[in-house]
Amino acid sequence: MKIGYSEISVPETGTLIVGILAEGGLTPSATDFDGRMSGALAKAISASARFSGKKNSLLALNAPAGLTVNRVLLVGLGKVEDIDALQMQALGGRVVSALNKFGETEAALVVDALAASPLGVTEMVAEAAFGARLAAYRFDKYRTKQKEEDKPTLESLAIMSESAEAAKAAAEPRQRVGDGVYMTRDLVSEPSNVKYPAAIVEDIKALAANGIDVEVLHEERMHELGMGALLGVGQGSRRDSFIAVMRWNGSPNTDEPPIAFVGKGVTFDTGGISIKPSGGMEEMKYDMAGAGAVIGLMKALAGRKARTNALGVVGLVENMPDGNAQRPGDVVTTMSGQTIEVINTDAEGRLVLSDALWYTQKTFKPKFMVDLATLTGAIIVSLGTYQAGLFSNNDELAERLLAAGKASGEELWRMPLGSRYDKDINSEIADMKNVGKGREAGSITAAQLLERFVADTPWAHLDIAGMAWMKRGDSPTVPKGASGFGVRLLDKLVADYYES
Ligand code: BES
Ligand code: ZN
Ligand code: ZN
Repeated sequence: MKIGYSEISVPETGTLIVGILAEGGLTPSATDFDGRMSGALAKAISASARFSGKKNSLLALNAPAGLTVNRVLLVGLGKVEDIDALQMQALGGRVVSALNKFGETEAALVVDALAASPLGVTEMVAEAAFGARLAAYRFDKYRTKQKEEDKPTLESLAIMSESAEAAKAAAEPRQRVGDGVYMTRDLVSEPSNVKYPAAIVEDIKALAANGIDVEVLHEERMHELGMGALLGVGQGSRRDSFIAVMRWNGSPNTDEPPIAFVGKGVTFDTGGISIKPSGGMEEMKYDMAGAGAVIGLMKALAGRKARTNALGVVGLVENMPDGNAQRPGDVVTTMSGQTIEVINTDAEGRLVLSDALWYTQKTFKPKFMVDLATLTGAIIVSLGTYQAGLFSNNDELAERLLAAGKASGEELWRMPLGSRYDKDINSEIADMKNVGKGREAGSITAAQLLERFVADTPWAHLDIAGMAWMKRGDSPTVPKGASGFGVRLLDKLVADYYES
């Protein structure tokens, strides 16, 4: 789907989309279109029992007299003083879904100069375009027999406003964030026979074209560095394990220490010798969604030329049962020198991150580290699929993440850390074990293990197990499947707090 920006005019074909304010209030352009339709627009609103211009409500008027378009689609804007970014994204998303249901191929959305809108008209356009893009995502490459009627029809969406140029300029950076979200969704959607660690490394290397510096650590180098925990997880796989480092140096101050994002990239999690039940195991292809989000975020930051020095580090491994796989009870030595007793080979994400986090803070001395991981099923028990778990050793970073979550619509809920939980991972024979006490506080004890590998660096851990894959499909900007969770959130964090 192509998104274009133009001045306000009367479209001749396709669908014309017009915003309507609360209680049927007509915007200036709606008044103009209403005049061309001899008052049919206002009449349709007053005749409709359900449509009153309420936020995000829709009403379609087919074959409107006085215009040559197929239909006019009215979208509720609610109260002008309440219009915000997330609402405009949702509007863009809803419109795209509705147009595809109509089988429409082209449409024009008019965004008025609404002086009282706190967002401002160019931002309204930018956010609507962003939402439309997010909603238009499809992963259809493996469907060879899709019926015509199941394919999306919408080819172009023109967004009309008073200044097409200003609107386009405002929309551009949001679209680059959209590129990042798309990349994450693609990586997460791909099956594990296609996106195994080395394949993802190739995708990361290709980001050099976007101005990102890439460095790859192979198994040999990781052995030298003593990354026994990460390597132990990959030991049962025929596929090589990797750490990949992406650097975006966008700060005018080149010496500025980077901000760091670290991702769990288990390209498939069978559980290893502590093998998972077969029902639903296919879902574990998305156990690399943390890494996927980090990669997409780096693409987004580079794409919109964020004025920040950012680092993305991903640990890429496959967790398989095998004659060479690690066993429950094995003790591994991490790069930090600390030892971990592997009680359960299915608690592998924390093993991968223990070395990835230590390596990151030690090598790059970042301002902070945020890790993303589909780490525990327990976080889904705690928070469901509406919010990701946030764990942090730093209140300022945590507050900023919570705020970025609210603003981006990718929400977080802060969970506790503490010495009482920490002692639950003490081992009888090693420095720690990789599981806590049975099923108790499973997400917290996982986070406690990570905390032992961050030293003094401000750090936050996002457990995104419930957010990486959307089965609901009820969000206007997140279609069913890979959500791309984390890209919008962290892009917002950077934009609001870490750009010069
Ligand atoms: N990848 C899983 C967690 C997960 C579960 C992600 C559901 C997405 C959806 C993780 O590696 C895992 O298996 N965790 C175990 C830990 C347990 C063995 C302590 C879990 O959550 O059951
Ligand atoms: Zn696991
Ligand atoms: Zn896992």
